[in-house]
Amino acid sequence: MPQPIEIAVIGAGAIGRTHIDSIGRMSGFRLSAIVDPMPASATLASALGVPLFPNVETMIGSGSARAAIVATPNETHFPVSEALLRAGIPVLLEKPVSESLASALGLIAVADETGIPLLVGHHRRHNPIIRKAHETIRSGRIGELVMATVTCSLAKPASYFEAAWRRAPGAGGPLLINLVHEIDLLRHFFGEIATVQAMASNKRRGFAVEDTAAVCLEFVGGGLGTLCISDAATGPWAWDLSAGENRLRFPAHPVTAHHYAGSRAGLSLPDLTLWEPESEPDWTRALHPTKIAVETADPYEAQLAHFAGLIRNGGAPLVSARDATANLIVLDAIGQAAATGRVVSVDLSPLDAISGTIFNYGNGP
Ligand SMILES: NC(=O)c1ccc[n+]([C@@H]2O[C@H](COP(=O)([O-])OP(=O)(O)OC[C@H]3O[C@@H](n4cnc5c(N)ncnc54)[C@H](O)[C@@H]3O)[C@@H](O)[C@H]2O)c1
Repeated sequence: MPQPIEIAVIGAGAIGRTHIDSIGRMSGFRLSAIVDPMPASATLASALGVPLFPNVETMIGSGSARAAIVATPNETHFPVSEALLRAGIPVLLEKPVSESLASALGLIAVADETGIPLLVGHHRRHNPIIRKAHETIRSGRIGELVMATVTCSLAKPASYFEAAWRRAPGAGGPLLINLVHEIDLLRHFFGEIATVQAMASNKRRGFAVEDTAAVCLEFVGGGLGTLCISDAATGPWAWDLSAGENRLRFPAHPVTAHHYAGSRAGLSLPDLTLWEPESEPDWTRALHPTKIAVETADPYEAQLAHFAGLIRNGGAPLVSARDATANLIVLDAIGQAAATGRVVSVDLSPLDAISGTIFNYGNGP
């Protein structure tokens, strides 16, 4: 049995604490430090019996971690991750990869230059439901994508917005915080997005950043999609509120949030149900539902297990900074489309020169 990897959690807020809980349940890691400037983190660190550092530099200087999870506000992702990578510490970085394309490209360059593993925390990709859905879609069972519909109603309480960054354009808002997960999944399943149209509104909450958006997508491979998202709308139709990924934080309602209608069959998620015709599709004939069997697993733990593999053996991260930057480019296009009312093309050319990192890293058990 290899020794557990000593890991620091940088940013002990909402998701940082979820990671701390996951680490506590896993044998491959041992929490060795917390970094957070908030005094409230002192209570947590002392309850867990680990040292608390006010910033990442002092933690690095202490030599207390062999790996780190960065779960800080978006605009700090680049400087914090850069410091860790340059110190030779592998990073699991929360999504979105950063707050701007420029800093995301900067981070890719640092990962390439240092060769130190960098995995971006699009945790849903590690969910067996998503892996099975990907396999089903790629096997051709739904045929070609004709239309995709995704809903995301997340009525967040007022206390959620006490952190100022969550109200600020460029850092907060459901597009950057939540829609990035949906964009990541849609690209993963159906390939790149060619153009977007969007409307955004801040009328419910009145913050500078949007609270609600409606988005149309055109995929390069054909097929159209719509996404409706709000952090002020009440309803169970959201992945977070139906997939049961984080039961300590969210309920798991028995509803669906993703509907993919293909040329042959339909697929809904997270119930992973395939709706197929007996022969040729005909809207007057019943479709037969098949619930695809899957063994569920905690995606945060699965993500950490993958991270441990990257640290020990090197290899390609399941979600690279390049991939996560493509998500950011789509989000930028959606932001532009909402601001101008125009159709905006998704320009992935800034990524052309980047091949996707395979880390030749790994220092054994
Ligand atoms: N994958 C997921 O399911 C998921 C869910 C929620 C949030 N996130 C992402 O995680 C990140 C954090 O979100 P959150 O909701 O936990 O935020 P949060 O505000 O609850 O927590 C952020 C914490 O980081 C600390 N912090 C700020 N600057 C820091 C720095 N320079 N060094 C160390 N600590 C610092 C803050 O004091 C705070 O405790 C965001 O990027 C968000 O998009 C991911």
